[in-house]
Amino acid sequence: MCGIVGVLGTVDAAPRIVDSLKRLEYRGYDSAGVATLVDGAIVRRRAEGKLRNLEAVLEKSPLTGISGIGHTRWATHGAPTVANAHPHQAGSVAVVHNGIIENYLELREEIVAAGAVLNTETDTEVVAHLVNLAMANGLSPRDAVAQVLPRLKGAFALAMLFSGEEDLLIGARKGSPLAVGHGDGEMFFGSDAIALSPFTDRITYLDEGDWAVITRAGVEIFDQANQPVTRPEARSSVTSSLMDKGNYKHFMAKEIHEQPEVLGHTLSRYFDYTTKRARVEGADQLKFKDLSRLIITACGTAYLAGLVSKYWFEKYARLPVEIDIASEFRYRETPVSDKDTALVISQSGETADTLASLRYCKTNGATIGAIVNVPESTIAREADRVFQTIAGPEIGVASTKAFTCQLAVLAGLALQAGRERGVLTPEREQELVAELIEVPSLALKALARESDIEKLAHPLSKASNALYLGRATNFPLALEGALKLKELSYIHAEGYAAGELKHGPIALIDENMPVFVIAPFDAIYEKTVSNMQEVAARGGRIVLITDERGASECGNAAENTVILPDMSDIVAPIIYALPVQLIAYHTAVFMGTDVDQPRNLAKSVTVE
Ligand code: F6R
Repeated sequence: MCGIVGVLGTVDAAPRIVDSLKRLEYRGYDSAGVATLVDGAIVRRRAEGKLRNLEAVLEKSPLTGISGIGHTRWATHGAPTVANAHPHQAGSVAVVHNGIIENYLELREEIVAAGAVLNTETDTEVVAHLVNLAMANGLSPRDAVAQVLPRLKGAFALAMLFSGEEDLLIGARKGSPLAVGHGDGEMFFGSDAIALSPFTDRITYLDEGDWAVITRAGVEIFDQANQPVTRPEARSSVTSSLMDKGNYKHFMAKEIHEQPEVLGHTLSRYFDYTTKRARVEGADQLKFKDLSRLIITACGTAYLAGLVSKYWFEKYARLPVEIDIASEFRYRETPVSDKDTALVISQSGETADTLASLRYCKTNGATIGAIVNVPESTIAREADRVFQTIAGPEIGVASTKAFTCQLAVLAGLALQAGRERGVLTPEREQELVAELIEVPSLALKALARESDIEKLAHPLSKASNALYLGRATNFPLALEGALKLKELSYIHAEGYAAGELKHGPIALIDENMPVFVIAPFDAIYEKTVSNMQEVAARGGRIVLITDERGASECGNAAENTVILPDMSDIVAPIIYALPVQLIAYHTAVFMGTDVDQPRNLAKSVTVE
C-alpha cells in the first residue's frame, strides 16, 4: 500500500517525483522520501509523516539530479521514522518498495553474516543489501537483480536506482502493481496510472513476476524465468486534472457531492433507459441461469456493497449468495469448482486479500466477474469479465462514491440475473429499473439535507461510542455507518442488525449512547421501529434516518430525525448511504481529524 515512483528524465527529478507522490499519498502517508543521482552518487532526502514534511526538507536542502526514485509509505515493518523511510540504500543501490518481503529475517541474518550493517527495522533494506552484495561480487545491476529477485518471498513492487548509472532504473512486480510510463526521451515507473499521470498517458503494466529495465531509450521486460517478454502499451484515461478538490475543503466532500453525477454515469452504463431493462454487457459470461449459488468476496466498504447485493440477488433472482470478507474467504478452503461464478468487488482493484480470493476461485476453475473502479488494476486484468464503476478517481481514503456506484452495478447484475433465471417478469423488471433511474435526482434531494445532518456532528463528537441499527439492506448500511464513523472520527461505533440488539448489545444502551436507526418506510419498518422503542425505553439517544412516511409514523422516540424523500426498496440503500457518509464526514470535520487521510489507514491495501 505504499506508493512508488521512478523517473529517468531530462530535467530535475525531485520536484517531479514529489508531484507524483502527491497523487500516491492516498496509498500511505506515514513517511516519504526521494533519492536522485547527483554527479553519479545516490543522495536521499526523507521525512516522517505527510509529504509536506518531505517538501519542507527539500526546500531547505534541494536535490538536483535528473534520475531518481521516490516513495510514500504505509508502515508494515518498523515504525514510521526517518530511518525507516524509503528509499533504502546499501552501497551503490537505492530501493523503494511496496509490499512485504516475508523472508526478510532469514535474509537479514545472511547479510549480517556477510559483514554488512543494517540500519533500519524494515523488510525492504534486505533487498538493497542483497543487490549491492551481488554487485560487489562483480555482477552488473541487471544480473544482480535477476539473481536476487527469485530469493524474495512475499509481495513486492520495487524500483531501484544505481550509483553511476544515470540512464538506468530497474523495477519488479510480484503481488503488488507496477507500471512503466513511456515519455519522449524519458521513462518512468509508478505504482499506478495516477502516479504516472503528470508524465505520460502511455503505460505498460507489468505482469505478475515481471521485472523491467528502463533507460531513456525504452524498456526491456523479463518474466520470472528471466525470459524477455513483450507487454502491451496502453493509453491511460487518468488525467492529472481530475485529481484536485475543486471548491471543496476535502476530497471526501467533493466525492460525496459527485454522487448524483457518477451514479448517473454508472446507471446509464448498466441500464437501458429506453426499454427500462438491465443491460449488463458480458453478464452472460457469469452463467447466472445455471448457478446454484453466487460467491461474492471483497473487503471493507466494498464487502458491504456485496452484502447489500446478497438481499437483491436472493430476492430478485432467487440466486443464493455466499458472501465473505476476502481475508477470511481466501484461507477458508471453501469448495469452489468450474460450475461456480465468483464476483469480487474492489474500488482500487489492488486489495491483496480480494485479489487472493479471486486467484483462489480462478485456480479452482470458477468464472470471475470483477466490479472495479480502476480499469487498469490487477483485479481488472485477472478477472474474466470486468464491470466498471464509473465513479472517477476516488482520492479520499474513506470510500463513498465508489460504494454507491458498486451498488448501482450490483443492482444491474441482480436484475439481469432475475431476468435470466426467469424470476423477474418484464413488467417487474421495468418497474424496478424505472425506480433506479430516479437515483441521481433522489441523491440530489438527499444531499439537500446536509445542513440538518451537519447539526448532528456537535453532539456526536462528544460521544465515545455509537451504534447503528438497520434491517435487511439497511443492515449493511448500519455496518457502513459505523465503519465510516470510526475510521474518520475515531469514535468507537458498531453496526447491528436491529433484530439482534436484544441478544447482547442492548446492554450498552444508556443516556450517553447515540443510536442511529436506519429505517425507510418499507415492509419491515415497524419491526425496526419496535427495536428503536426498546432503545428509547432504556434512555438511548436516537437519530432516526427515514423518509416522510416513516417520520410521520414513528412516534416521538427519536431525539433527531433525518428525513429523506419517499423511495422504493431497491433504491433505498444507495440513497441512504449519503446521510450515513455525511454524518461521519461532518463529525470528523467538527472534531478536526484528518478527513481525507485518517490515521493508520491507506487507500489501496496491497498487503494482507
Ligand atoms: C472504508 C474503505 C475500505 C475499503 C477497503 C477495500 O471507507 O474505504 O474499507 O472499502 O479497503 O478497498 P477496495 O475497494 O479498494 O478493495
